[in-house]
Amino acid sequence: MKFQAPRGTHDVLPADAYRWQHVHRVFAELAGQFGYGEVRTPAFEETELFVRTSGETSEVVNKQMYSFLDKGDRNLSLKPEGTAPAVRAYLEHGLGQPGQTTRLWYFTPFFRYERPGKGRYRQAHQFGLELVGSAAPEADAEIIEMTVELYRRVGIEARVNVNSLGRAETRARYREALLNYAEPYLRDQSDEIRARAALNPLRMLDSKDPEVISAMAGAPKVLDFLEEASKGHFDRLLCLLEEAQVPFEVAPNIVRGLDYYTDTVFEITTDLLGSSNDALCGGGRYDNLVSDLGGPPTPSVGVGIGVERLLIVMSELGLESPLAPLDAMAISATEAARPAIRQIAREMRSAGFSVVTDLDGRSLRSQLKRADQLGAVRAVIVGDEELTAGEVSVRLLASGDQVRVSRERLIEVLRGV
Ligand code: HAM
Repeated sequence: MKFQAPRGTHDVLPADAYRWQHVHRVFAELAGQFGYGEVRTPAFEETELFVRTSGETSEVVNKQMYSFLDKGDRNLSLKPEGTAPAVRAYLEHGLGQPGQTTRLWYFTPFFRYERPGKGRYRQAHQFGLELVGSAAPEADAEIIEMTVELYRRVGIEARVNVNSLGRAETRARYREALLNYAEPYLRDQSDEIRARAALNPLRMLDSKDPEVISAMAGAPKVLDFLEEASKGHFDRLLCLLEEAQVPFEVAPNIVRGLDYYTDTVFEITTDLLGSSNDALCGGGRYDNLVSDLGGPPTPSVGVGIGVERLLIVMSELGLESPLAPLDAMAISATEAARPAIRQIAREMRSAGFSVVTDLDGRSLRSQLKRADQLGAVRAVIVGDEELTAGEVSVRLLASGDQVRVSRERLIEVLRGV
């Protein structure tokens, strides 16, 4: 029987893993520079956690969750996103006091039963930032600025689409206005489409269906419905983004697919993933999520950055990740030299070099060939002659240049080569 990775999942192999390590390093460093602490939450949580937060009407919850009963009859789901688990951990461990700001970051797999395609998987990964406990537009600006800075540090110039969905009251009035506007279109649609629209009319705005796009082209804009406080918050955020020189556009069609957002929402999109699938990252403010999970009122804002999509765009733009080379292959030319070469490899590793040795007693020739295949910078060779003289030969594999040095001076010479 031939096994394959399940549909919609993929293996990250050594030839690619260094790219993952690179973006992870860049993200972890950035998060550290802004004072964010890392949280790691379990792969599965109680299903109710996601129903209560992402919302029953969201596709993520009603169509895409991997839910199951465990052997103790608990209703669990593989996490379809990272925000609710991070906030659950925040509350469970008392990570913040009311009025205090807590900054969290994570790198996590997440699971959604979607139709797989370019940049769309059933197991994918996100970098996430959650700034818990601040109502200030400065908090939204910090999250957006960090997001753009992450892309900048890997070589991508990103433009942010921002919008505001206002508070619950705004949303209620806006939903009604949208349904009224869409009525002539919806009248001729199936019961299913009408029911979905009635449940969450905002989703018609970010539909990829050309018919819906053209039907909604003149739809009322949520920004015209905002209350004073939301409008003030949004205007201040735009000023802060200008101050930070973040390239942005106000995009009234950004509505997001999860139900917990209030006021600010944003996405960065790209046309490098194919048209039905263009979000590189998305986030926004979720002022009610903490209280919906039983905590005190705790206004918060965050972002989820798709790692696979980031890597695809980097490839398409020809942006390389630095690949740490293999410093040396330590080669014993004779059987007698093997203990010495093992010791030399140990000393080199202690000095910080990466070194591979042959384990199977292969010939000098075949070890040199392997060193080439592995892309080693040098071969460090000990044969009978070197052994007797207490020396080592160091060959630069690209040029073939070779020198003999004493064992004591090896590390010093390597540092200078
Ligand atoms: P989201 O927009 O559902 O937001 O996901 C964030 C990002 O994850 C997307 O922009 C996309 O890059 C990536 N993504 C989503 N689904 C897939 C998939 N099937 N395959 C590959 N990549 C995918 C959230 O999850 C929120 N928790 C973000 C957030 C954090 N909001 C506030 N804090």
